[in-house]
Amino acid sequence: MSIERKTTSAAGARRAEPCPEHLLDSAEQMPREELLDLQLRRLRSTLRHAYDNVELYRKKFDEAGVGPEDCGSLADIARFPYTTKADLRDTYPFGMFAVPMSDVRRIHASSGTTGRPTVVGYTDNDLSNWADLVARSIRAAGGRPGHKVHISYGYGLFTGGLGAHYGAERAGCTVIPASGGMTARQVQIIRDFQPEIIMVTPSYMLTLLDEFERQGVDPRSTSLRIGIFGAEPWTEEMRREIEERMNIDAVDIYGLSEVMGPGVAQECVETKDGLHVWEDHFYPEIVDPITDEVLPDGESGELVFTSLTKEALPVIRYRTRDLTRFLPGTARPAFRRIEKITGRCDDMIILRGVNVFPSQIEEVVLRTRDVAPHFQIQLGRRGRMDHMTVLVEARPGAASEQREAAARAIAAGVKDGVGVTVEVRIVDPETLERSLGKLRRVKDLREG
Ligand code: DLL
Repeated sequence: MSIERKTTSAAGARRAEPCPEHLLDSAEQMPREELLDLQLRRLRSTLRHAYDNVELYRKKFDEAGVGPEDCGSLADIARFPYTTKADLRDTYPFGMFAVPMSDVRRIHASSGTTGRPTVVGYTDNDLSNWADLVARSIRAAGGRPGHKVHISYGYGLFTGGLGAHYGAERAGCTVIPASGGMTARQVQIIRDFQPEIIMVTPSYMLTLLDEFERQGVDPRSTSLRIGIFGAEPWTEEMRREIEERMNIDAVDIYGLSEVMGPGVAQECVETKDGLHVWEDHFYPEIVDPITDEVLPDGESGELVFTSLTKEALPVIRYRTRDLTRFLPGTARPAFRRIEKITGRCDDMIILRGVNVFPSQIEEVVLRTRDVAPHFQIQLGRRGRMDHMTVLVEARPGAASEQREAAARAIAAGVKDGVGVTVEVRIVDPETLERSLGKLRRVKDLREG
């Protein structure tokens, strides 16, 4: 298979070297056939482990009339029932753990904006596999032993901070465990400690970038070479913005707590063409979010995962709500890629019958002159009609004609690209809420 290797990115940013062969894991070098064999063996043992040790799975499998012995091929996974966030909530806190609590070495939980949080657990082996996969992800991003890694993902119940932390240590890097918040101090630490790598949400990276400029530091002149960004959707336009302003390679890391945390899939720095799913530990499917049908490779739908090695919390066909499609492997030919996640089923706004994702608005805003990459979407009602207002910050110093032209360009770009009419309001610099971690782009002001 030919690997597309661009010598410079769209932004003309620097490009880290691909991971040298001697640093690749054995799974990364496995022929695909061998990987598929490994997946089937691991899948069968995961189904058995889940059925024998988790009441909810036993009940669901029995109701569907399937058992672990019915999985003779990878395609047979389609006979098994799906698992959802609601299953984890209904068994809160530990009802889906498959090992005694004495074997659970760590617990994380998702913040749970609505209702109960979802709680996840890890055995010693789970933690070790997680560190291995984040280390693999860091190497794919261009990280090497001896690099300093500044981690601004939040530490705590969120999987971002500690997940990145142990992975970076496993990769032989030096960790700077900054966590989120205290932005001015973070920038000072980056200036003083000189890390090569930063791991952070893309929206908080923008907050840090503004702080560099506020402190009179040219962000292109820092020691940072690589940014490993994830935990929320971000677009190619955002990549270009960050790479240009910081002169770094910006690559995407994906994961979710129910399936492990960061490091389920990772973009390789030499291709920047979507994320390779670490399929030796996770079996991914793409399904139609409405009909639940499994879709062939290449078609867009909802990403579903079955864990293949997890002990404390095996997940069987877990519905992520994230939307993407499969692409063939490139820089790691044995693993399929997923296209950059453009949104979640739950983020989709239906505006007067048209589906709109915040990422589509981001693409338009970031292509527009004289505005900053800070915007917010407000949903309201005008009479009986839904109405969307996009608030966008002007770049400092933009004159009123430039601001008006930007508003017209954004409204026209959204109308052309997405097919809906929105109101655009250009607001003064530094007036919209800044991200301290995962950013909420949409404010829904409609009743109910
Ligand atoms: O966000 C884990 C993580 C931490 C991933 C740090 C990457 C970096 P949760 O809090 O459980 O876990 O949220 C998972 O975040 O289902 C996606 O909707 C979204 N998400 C995560 N990574 C990406 C990404 C962590 N690279 C949810 N692109 C997922 C788009 C992402 N969305």
